[in-house]
Amino acid sequence: MKAYIETFGCQMNESDSERIMYLLENQGYEKTNDISDSDIIILNTCTVREKARNKLYGHIGNLKKIKYKRKDVLICIGGCASQDLKEKIIEDFPFVDVVFGTLNIPEFPELIKRRTLTGKSICSVKTGGFDPDALKVRRICRFKALIPIIIGCNNYCSYCIVPMVRGSEKSIEPEKIIKNVKELVMQGVVEIALLGQNVNSYGKDLKQTCTFSGLLGEVSKIEGLERIRFMTSHPKDFSKDLIDIIRDRDNITKHIHLPLQAGSDKTLKEMNRNYTVKDYLDIIESIREKIPRCTITTDIIVGFPGERRKDFLDTLDLVKKVRFNRAFTFVYSPRAGTRAAKMEDKIQPGEKRKWFKELLEVQNSISYEENKKLAGKKFKVLVEGKSAKGGGMLEGRMDDNTIVNFKGSSTLTGRMVPVIITGVKTFYLKGELDYKED
Ligand code: 5AD
Ligand code: SF4
Repeated sequence: MKAYIETFGCQMNESDSERIMYLLENQGYEKTNDISDSDIIILNTCTVREKARNKLYGHIGNLKKIKYKRKDVLICIGGCASQDLKEKIIEDFPFVDVVFGTLNIPEFPELIKRRTLTGKSICSVKTGGFDPDALKVRRICRFKALIPIIIGCNNYCSYCIVPMVRGSEKSIEPEKIIKNVKELVMQGVVEIALLGQNVNSYGKDLKQTCTFSGLLGEVSKIEGLERIRFMTSHPKDFSKDLIDIIRDRDNITKHIHLPLQAGSDKTLKEMNRNYTVKDYLDIIESIREKIPRCTITTDIIVGFPGERRKDFLDTLDLVKKVRFNRAFTFVYSPRAGTRAAKMEDKIQPGEKRKWFKELLEVQNSISYEENKKLAGKKFKVLVEGKSAKGGGMLEGRMDDNTIVNFKGSSTLTGRMVPVIITGVKTFYLKGELDYKED
């Protein structure tokens, strides 16, 4: 029996897919990358913006042909869109066999069995609870691992559907995380990414007191662990301790993803972000003061309801002032059930797209200028494998997740190698191995 899984959206979903695959393997399934050879097809979906959802409808629609030809293949839809849409997915696509929510992953094998026994489509979406075994996964990569440390979100930013589909914050106990990372390192993992919608809230819901910087301190002591990444940090509770620990430990990446969302205090307030532009700039200043080479990346939303040209220009100014290495920019997308979806929105979509393009142009030139500063410098790169570009090129990532392409043998995959940057693009770098291969 073979299982095919396709993952959309964020790294938390990637991690959930590894968990789903682990459970399926325990039932005797084998992972396949060939959809036409699968007995079960799972789409692990995203719903953070409307576009993700529209694409999903296209994807599910495409599966109809497969189901028509092979009646026994099971079609299962999981993830945030299932959590949001529930039975509606089966109403719209009656050939779907199982719809399961993000909090129903542990019972997924049971749902498949029930579907096979009863012959009826099943929708199982619960709103509370927690997967106590979230760390038991079938890892896709042998040298990198995704580790969820806090699941859900309590922030209720007014535009965001995540707290509705992922539930409230639930931290995994530090002992479990540390034990898990130690085991992974023994198995050859050199890089981990600690994941959470807001890692800075880590531990607030646990009986014993533990902060995110405390957890980082412990994890970074694990011998053999070469690189620790983490995301996402919320500016409202970004602590000084965190900056200190990032500076002090060599194996914690000098990369902070700190979503700004908007550069006007009025918009930030309406977004319920709980910080001001000044608070944000103060954090940036302390990061830059304490960690000289620290990559800072961000998320920005353009065209939030009530945002005027003047507010957008404030965002643009702030982007120029901070000079983010990279920014993930989005046009505001109303999500049913959120507070912002009920707010008055006078700006036309065409106007918003114009602002979005303006921001993109400014940010792209900043990203390029910042990348240019790296030329001639040497960095540690984790080799991820052959580059899709071919020509004997490898692809690897620097500690801030920047992609570097360079010539080398694919036997280096999974190793950290020194690379000198020789060429610079807006979104990736070119380099040369500073190292003799034997
Ligand atoms: N519209 C546009 N962008 C959104 N994001 C979250 N919700 C929305 C929305 N409704 C963006 C935020 C967040 C990132 C993951 O997605 O910038 O940080
Ligand atoms: Fe959404 Fe805000 Fe939570 Fe991030 S912090 S997941 S933007 S509610």
